[in-house]
Amino acid sequence: MTAPANNDPSTFPRAIRSVQNQAVLVTGGAGFIGSHLVDELFVRGASEVVVIDNLFVGNPDNLTEAHAAGKVTLYRDDAEIATSLDAIFDQHDIDVVFNMATKALNYSFTNPANAFATNVTVALNLLEHQRRGTFASMCHFSTSEVYGSAVYEPMDELHPRHPTTTYAAGKVAADMAVESYVNMFDVDACIVRPFNNYGPRQNHLPPLAGIIPLTAHRIFTSGTPEIHGDGTQTRDFVFVTDTVRAALDAFAVLPTGESVNISTDNEVAVADLIERICAYLGYTGEILHQPARSADVACHHASNEKLRSLIDFNVTPFDEGLAQTLDWYQQRFVGS
Ligand SMILES: NC(=O)c1ccc[n+]([C@@H]2O[C@H](COP(=O)([O-])OP(=O)(O)OC[C@H]3O[C@@H](n4cnc5c(N)ncnc54)[C@H](O)[C@@H]3O)[C@@H](O)[C@H]2O)c1
Repeated sequence: MTAPANNDPSTFPRAIRSVQNQAVLVTGGAGFIGSHLVDELFVRGASEVVVIDNLFVGNPDNLTEAHAAGKVTLYRDDAEIATSLDAIFDQHDIDVVFNMATKALNYSFTNPANAFATNVTVALNLLEHQRRGTFASMCHFSTSEVYGSAVYEPMDELHPRHPTTTYAAGKVAADMAVESYVNMFDVDACIVRPFNNYGPRQNHLPPLAGIIPLTAHRIFTSGTPEIHGDGTQTRDFVFVTDTVRAALDAFAVLPTGESVNISTDNEVAVADLIERICAYLGYTGEILHQPARSADVACHHASNEKLRSLIDFNVTPFDEGLAQTLDWYQQRFVGS
């Protein structure tokens, strides 16, 4: 099946937003992508960055470089609690919000309702503030998981949203909340939709870890790498600093209410990925084959045509990004 037509951003008016000299709130900003975004916000001249993160998997150490670069305030608090956000907005005159708080996809297998609720409630709390005029603009982080398995490839922004987990269902609901508040209340919000990210600072601890840090950690701690299913399932892996630069570039121009994929337009099979990690780390031992997880999407090959039509998007070659990532974990786990 081919992609439906009419996904041409040149047909929409261009919005202009900036983070320069702006006070920015990042929900989930002590997490993996959020902390890299905070670093990049200072590169682009943000006047202050306020982070709310309940440290569910986030880590204050992820903000060490940011503290050296500019004025960062970390609130160890829960963005699902409306009064926690009220208190922050009372203390700081926020201009722009990046909504990145979430509980990892794997959490939805153990606490499906809360994985859903976090994604929806945080978005609604922010949108309620925004419609009352508390802050000017919001960039909401969606996920490729909203698409489910590909109905057509590469998946563009018009691909049907078929979530296969409550995590993804909550992300779809949050996307739709953003779209409907734009529609109903004319708030200025847009949506970036990254595909699978990898890079330094991603949580490595099971059961919520991403596949690259999890595999590296297993190898460094004399464990055995694992593959779920036959390993032919594919993902579009984006290096985290490419994602945050693209998100900020897209935020500057993406029309209100629009969404854009952030992806490389390449796919890597999980078995191939595990092989590359093992080869880089010199691991020649056994690889455990576990049953496929029922809700795993089979294929994630994304179109980044819209992104490339909006911004200059430079992709770190996968082997280079993987090497940087594994070197970072090596430093962290074995200190050399
Ligand atoms: N990592 C990926 O591959 C990927 C891919 C697509 C989209 N995304 C999206 O990007 C965003 C950031 O993801 P990430 O990979 O950095 O995840 P992450 O888990 O590293 O970061 C999320 C942060 O949110 C915090 N958090 C959770 N619940 C919270 C709450 N109620 N209040 C305040 N903070 C809370 C966590 O402690 C964590 O630091 C998310 O919206 C995610 O859906 C990530």
